[in-house]
This record gives sequence, C-alpha cells and structure tokens, in this order.
Amino acid sequence: MRNQEIKILAIESSCDETAAAVVANGREVRSNVISSQIALHTVYGGVVPEIASRKHIENINQVICQAMEEAEVTLDDIDAIGVTYGPGLVGALLVGVAEAKAISYAKNIPLVGVHHIEGHICANYIENKELEPPFLCLVVSGGHTHLVKVLDYGTYEILGKTRDDAAGEAFDKVARAIGLGYPGGPKIEKVSKEGNPHAIEFPRAKIADGPYDFSFSGLKSAVLNYLNTCQMKGVPVIQADVAASFQKAVTDVLIGNAMRALDEYNMDKFAIAGGVASNKTLQEGMREACFKKGVAFYHPSPVFCTDNAAMIGVAAYYDFLNGKRDGLDLNAVPNLKLGER
Ligand code: KG4
Ligand code: ZN
Repeated sequence: MRNQEIKILAIESSCDETAAAVVANGREVRSNVISSQIALHTVYGGVVPEIASRKHIENINQVICQAMEEAEVTLDDIDAIGVTYGPGLVGALLVGVAEAKAISYAKNIPLVGVHHIEGHICANYIENKELEPPFLCLVVSGGHTHLVKVLDYGTYEILGKTRDDAAGEAFDKVARAIGLGYPGGPKIEKVSKEGNPHAIEFPRAKIADGPYDFSFSGLKSAVLNYLNTCQMKGVPVIQADVAASFQKAVTDVLIGNAMRALDEYNMDKFAIAGGVASNKTLQEGMREACFKKGVAFYHPSPVFCTDNAAMIGVAAYYDFLNGKRDGLDLNAVPNLKLGER
C-alpha cells in the first residue's frame, strides 16, 4: 500500500539554470539539483537565449536522473510533476515543459504547470515551516520586482511592480558599467563591502500614481552619468563607492515601499524572495525595519533565492492540493502574469 506522502518531481528551466528537485509533502526537499550555465554566458556579459535552450536540452535528463537518485525514488513513487511554464525565455521554458509532458504521458503522472514567481514566493516555505499565508512578499529577481500580498496558497494580489528594469537587472547593468561583469548582483555585493554607501547620492525614484511601484532605469542612468562625468573631468572612479552607493539606493527604495505597504495593509509577516533576496545588505535592512514594526521577517537561504526547482516543487504541491491539473496542451507562456491560469 502506498503511504500518504505526496512526492512532486519539479523541473525548472526558465532562464540559465537547468534544475530538478524532489519535494515531499510540500516543504521537505529530498533533492535539489541545479546545473548552472553562468560560466557559459559570462563570456557574453549576459544570458544568450539560444545557448540557454541548447544547454537545457543537453542537461535536463541528467539533472532529473540525479534528482531522483539523490532522493532515492523512481518515477513510480512520484505523485505529480511540477514544471515552470512561465514567465521566462520561451525556448528555455519549452525544454522543461516538453520534458515534463513526456514523463507525464509516458508514466501517466499528473502534470502541474507552475508560475515562476509563485515558485520564488514558495521558496520561503522550505525553511520556515511555520510560515503560512497571509503575508506580504517582495519578489526581487533578474526579471521581476513585485510586491505581492499572499492571501492564501495560490492566491495573490499584486500591490506594485517595476515600471522598467527589475532590481536584479539594475544590479547586472550597473556591474557591467563599472567593470564587474556578469552576474552583477553577487559582485556588487562583494565590492560594496569595501565602499562607502553615502559617497554618492543616487536618486530614489518615487512613482506618483503607483505608491508601491518601482523604477530603476533612472538610477541606472544616474550611475552611467556619474561615470561619464568622472571620465570627462579626469576624476578617478572609486568602484567600491559607486557599488555601495548604488546598492544603498536600491535597498532604500525596496525597504521603503515594503514598509509602507506593511503599514497600510496591516500585515504582521513579511518575506523576500528571488535572486536579489540573497543580498545581505537587503536582508539586514529589511530585518531591522521589520523588527522596529514587530513584523516577522522571512527569507530563503541563498540556494533557494536564486532559480531552483525545489521552490517549483513547493508551489506545485499546493496547486496539486488545490486540484490544479494541466493537460498535454500545456505550453510555455513567456510573459505569464501572476494569478493567471
Ligand atoms: O531569481 P534569479 O536567479 O533569476 C530570475 O528569476 O531572474 O535572480 C537572478 C538575479 C540576477 O540579476 C542577479 O544579479 C541577482 O539576482 N542577484 C543578486 C545577488 N545574487 C543574485 N543581486 C544582488 N545581490 C546578490 N547577492
Ligand atoms: Zn527566478
């Protein structure tokens, strides 16, 4: 007789990480395998979609087999397959979706398509076993900056989002401009430790008609203008000061918007998610601001902040419990909106 445990095989291939995981009962990660293509894309200064798709194809079977082996399961033990079907790079997403559909069809295992941002939010459930909705979550990644009210498992209300660049995208672009290369976030964080965050006063954008919206393209331009002015005047650029001042400007805006939303919506739990959530300056700033308000603060470990399949497995589990099933007509949706089905 089968035990009551629900095991999800999860697949994530929306950008430059080919990932697979086995998650039991929603919050227990049995394996979490990530094959990163970062080294491959670094040469080009960013993710090249065509290369990403090809590499996903080469890696995906091996990554899934490893995830199953590490979890000591076979496909006969799997109750559902969770797969990211959007948003992301269409060619990259298609590899994971096609793979998930093939396994689902061959082994007659239910298929659950997962929204990538929902996955990032759900990463918080893995190590914070007591965390349950409702709570407020800030998703800050390379492609997204969303302030989201998590009303229930699978039910979200977007309070604000970026009008232009995502927070991680701004980190990546500024890193490139100051000669740090790709991926920018971790490099800016490291260099910032040697710099003065008050050295340069970069702008903090406020959006008049969207109190919880963000804008980072003006900040990115301000950094570029600063670098040009220094060059024209023959003034040396102190890379660490630029990095630290930029990082401070981004985190100030993220913290400011999140704290105002916590006040307005009277929420007592707050979580951050996505690649930028692994930034220690952001974490510490959020922790301190939440502490002052008596709000409980949550964040995932770095490995669950950046793209991984375990978070997709968690989201798929709650969707599966809610009765969500997808058919073999599931397709990649590159611009999928949160809350859409
Ligand atoms: O969540 P993620 O792996 O992929 C997307 O869904 O976009 O996020 C990647 C982004 C990149 O822009 C990267 O520069 C940023 O997260 N990032 C960071 C840090 N680690 C990764 N940004 C700031 N500080 C970090 N420590
Ligand atoms: Zn992501």
